[in-house]
Amino acid sequence: MPASMNDQLSAKELNPLNSLDEWEEAVLERYPEPDVPAKQKDEFRNYDAPARDTVKEFYRLNHTYQTYDFVKQKKENFLKFDKREMNVWKAFDFLNELVDDSDPDTDLDQFQHLLQTSEAIRADGHPDWMVLTGLMHDMGKVLCLFGEPQWAVVGDTFPVGCAYSDKIVYPEFFENNADYTNPAYNTANGVYKEGCGLRNVDMSWGHDEYVYQMMKDHLPEEGLYMLRYHSFYAWHREAEYGNLLDDHDKEMLKWVKLFNPYDLYSKNPTPPVWKELKPYYEGLVAKYLPETIKF
Ligand SMILES: [Fe+2]
Ligand SMILES: [Fe+2]
Repeated sequence: MPASMNDQLSAKELNPLNSLDEWEEAVLERYPEPDVPAKQKDEFRNYDAPARDTVKEFYRLNHTYQTYDFVKQKKENFLKFDKREMNVWKAFDFLNELVDDSDPDTDLDQFQHLLQTSEAIRADGHPDWMVLTGLMHDMGKVLCLFGEPQWAVVGDTFPVGCAYSDKIVYPEFFENNADYTNPAYNTANGVYKEGCGLRNVDMSWGHDEYVYQMMKDHLPEEGLYMLRYHSFYAWHREAEYGNLLDDHDKEMLKWVKLFNPYDLYSKNPTPPVWKELKPYYEGLVAKYLPETIKF
C-alpha cells in the first residue's frame, strides 16, 4: 500500500478490529480446543463472540494489501531495527501500551497472554528455551505502536509471490490482491523453486516474521520456527504449501504444531501472579537474551 493511501483511509478503515484479540478469537473459533466441552470453553474464554463483520473486513484488507512488493518494502524498513532499543522488561511495558478498545475487565493485556502461554509451556515440563519462546512470541505486535495497520501486524500468514491456498480463511478476498492476476506470482511455485524451503519464502508481513528476526541469534532453531510460523495456519493446521517445503521444514513442523495449542488455548481469565514468577523469568531472560532488544 503506498504511504499516501494511509492518509486517505480513516482509522476505522485501516483498523477495523476493536482489538487485536478479535482476530485471535476468530482463529480459536475456527480451531477449537479438542476434547473440551463447548460450555466449559465458553466459561474458560470469558469473551464475547467476535463481531464477525469486523473480522471479515480485517481479512479483506489483509488479503488485498499483502502483496509481494508490500512485504519486501516492510522488510526493508523494519528489519533495519533502527527504530528503538530498549531493555527487555521495558519492551514488555512498551508492548502493553497497546490498549484495546474492548472491555478492560475481561481482556488481559498483551503481557498476560505471553505469560500465560509461557507458564502453560513450563507446566508441561518443556525445555526452558521453549518457555522463553512462549514469553516472546507476540513481541512483534509492537508494530502497531509504530503506526502499522492491524492487517500488517496480525492475521493468518501465508507465502507471497506464489498462488494463495484456498484453505486460507476468506480466500475470495485474494481476488482483490494485485498479485492475483500477475503470472509471475500466481502459479503454485511462483517466484520460488519447488522444495526450496520456507527460509527462502517471503511470508505475508506481520508480527511473526518481525519477532523471528528480532530473536534469531538467541533461540534454538525449533524456537525460531515457532516464532516465525505460529500464524501460518495454512501450513501447520491445513498441511498446504507442501511444494515449497524442504526436509528441514518437515522436521521442524512438529515443533510449530507443539507450540500452537499453548498460544491458542492457554487464555485464562485469572492472571498469573507475576510477583511470584518474576525471579524465574528474570533468570530465563538473562540466560538467553542480551540486555537490550532493538526494534
Ligand atoms: Fe501471535
Ligand atoms: Fe499469541
